[in-house]
Amino acid sequence: MSSIIPGPVENSNAIRLELLSWPEVERYLTNCKGVVLPIGSTEQHGPTGAIGTDAMTAEAVALEVGRRTGVLVTPTQPFGMAEHHLGFPGTMSLKPSTLLEVLNDLFLSLISNGFERIFVVNGHGGNIATTKAAFAQVHSNARMRKISCASEVRFKLANWFMAPSVSLKAKELYGEREGQHATPSEIALTMHLEPDLILKQRPLNDPVPAGAINGSEDFRLRYPDGRMGSDPYLAKADHGAVLLDKAASYLCNDLSQFLEAL
Ligand code: NI
Repeated sequence: MSSIIPGPVENSNAIRLELLSWPEVERYLTNCKGVVLPIGSTEQHGPTGAIGTDAMTAEAVALEVGRRTGVLVTPTQPFGMAEHHLGFPGTMSLKPSTLLEVLNDLFLSLISNGFERIFVVNGHGGNIATTKAAFAQVHSNARMRKISCASEVRFKLANWFMAPSVSLKAKELYGEREGQHATPSEIALTMHLEPDLILKQRPLNDPVPAGAINGSEDFRLRYPDGRMGSDPYLAKADHGAVLLDKAASYLCNDLSQFLEAL
C-alpha cells in the first residue's frame, strides 16, 4: 500500500516517535507507513571536532526532513561501525556484525507493527556497507517470519553528506580542504546546532591527505590527529545552517519519491 505524505508540521516535536503515545502511532499508520530512522556514530572527529558529530548531524537532518514532510522520526541510533577510529579515546564502536544485528532488530520491530517504508538518514560513511547488508537480511527475515507486509517492505539509505547539493556547497566553501573525515561541512553543522562547539575551533597544521583505511592502529599512525585531508577550522556556524537546509531539501524530495514508489 502506498503512503500519504502527512505534510509539514510547525514543531518537530510533533514527528518525534519518542514523544508520541502508541494510539497516536497507530493512527499515523492508517495514513502513512513511512518512518525516518537516523543513524550516526560516536567517534573521534579530529582534535577540535565533537565525538558525537555524526549522530548530531544525522539527527538534525532527519528532524528537519520530518518537520517538512510530517513523516515520523525515530530516536537516533548513536553508535555505528567505527572500528578504525578506536585508536582515539571517546570512540565507541559496534562491530559490523553487531551493528547488523542491532539494525535487524530495530527494522523488524518497526515492520512487525506496520511500517513499510524505512528511510535511514545516515551521518557516517562507515555505516553504509553494514546498513545495506541489514536491509537484505531484514527482507529475508521478514519473509521467513511470515510478517504479513513482508513483500511491501522497502528501505532507502540517505547519506546526507553525500547529497549532491551538499557536496557542491562543501566544494564551493572549502575546495580540497573538505577532506574525508572531520570535514569542515560536518563540523559547521555541529557548530550551528551547538554554538558552544565554536569555542573548540583553532587553526591546525596541514592535514595528512586522505588515503587508505585499515585497522585502528594503522589509522592512528597514518592520520595522527584523526583528520583525513580536512581543515575544520574553515567551518562557520552559518555554513552549517545552509548545509542543513540543502541536505533537508534534497532528502525531502528523496523521501517523497520513496513513499510514492511501489
Ligand atoms: Ni563524521
